[in-house]
Amino acid sequence: MPRTEGTYKAQSERATGVTPQAEQAPQTQQEEPAHKGRQRTKMVAPPNNYLVPERDALLTPVLECRHLGIDFGGLKAVEDLNLMVGKTEIAGLIGPNGAGKTTVFNLLTKVYQPTRGTILLDGQDTAGMDTARVSREGIARTFQNIRLFDSLTVEDNVKIGLHNRVDCGMWSGIFRMPRYWLSEKEFHDRALELLDVFNMADNANDIAGSLPYGAQRRLEIVRALATGPKLLLLDEPAAGMNPVETEELMENIVKIRDDFQIAVLLIEHDMDLVMGICEGIVVLNFGKVIAKGTPEEIQANPQVVEAYLGKQD
Ligand SMILES: Nc1ncnc2c1ncn2[C@@H]1O[C@H](COP(=O)(O)OP(=O)(O)O)[C@@H](O)[C@H]1O
Ligand SMILES: [Mg+2]
Repeated sequence: MPRTEGTYKAQSERATGVTPQAEQAPQTQQEEPAHKGRQRTKMVAPPNNYLVPERDALLTPVLECRHLGIDFGGLKAVEDLNLMVGKTEIAGLIGPNGAGKTTVFNLLTKVYQPTRGTILLDGQDTAGMDTARVSREGIARTFQNIRLFDSLTVEDNVKIGLHNRVDCGMWSGIFRMPRYWLSEKEFHDRALELLDVFNMADNANDIAGSLPYGAQRRLEIVRALATGPKLLLLDEPAAGMNPVETEELMENIVKIRDDFQIAVLLIEHDMDLVMGICEGIVVLNFGKVIAKGTPEEIQANPQVVEAYLGKQD
């Protein structure tokens, strides 16, 4: 993981109300830490109540939520969410089923308008924006249940993502090209280049719906990437993947962050993935943040273990 700098220091420069457990927790003999060979990121707290990777500390965070909330009738599905994601951070959003995680993604992408609070995307307030606009401004997502154009080819699914970006006139994302420069061949080349991120260029002519499940999940990520995001939201990307596919996915998420220099916010129940690649983690329970911190802090937090981790398998 070449871009992570520095070393993780357990309790230095921490951000928020996470009780300092990591150093005190007795070190039980574990088989192998989830992050294996990956070097830990040093997380720092800018002068506020947040936590970002040290390398991003002086840059405008790609995402900041302040007191974000939404009610569905009497249910406060998300309540007073404060969250910051650094420019090149891989961040995790975890918590039990029904905690409000997908609702957060729906708020960020304006599927729902917030009842309360503010969302800043790269410093810009997204109040009043709709889904298409936040997509153009740089948020891309994948869904908990795969959404592809099943009867189209793999390549065409990616091209749809590319067209979404082009429709805004200028590619502000990865390619930076005015639309009229792009011929069909260039679209084709770009699509294959992106598919290559997941070694899927050979599948370009396959029908999307005929791909194995894991490959469909990967294709969804490629299509999201094609829109040229600053922030990629992944909703349970490892769901239904086998351990080998999950390990590959982890490598690829890190690669995407490194190559595209974007941020990733992911929802995931696979704790090997979350603890292995996330730098900062936020834990939701009943719509509220119950903990924020590094993987080590989260794993050692009694409230998190009680509400969520203790109940894993
Ligand atoms: N459109 C909606 N209308 C009413 N309730 C909703 C709606 N969307 C989500 N909810 C409720 O909000 C809560 C959080 O749901 P969700 O964000 O899907 O949880 P998670 O992704 O953490 O499993 C649940 O109680 C869910 O039933
Ligand atoms: Mg969900």
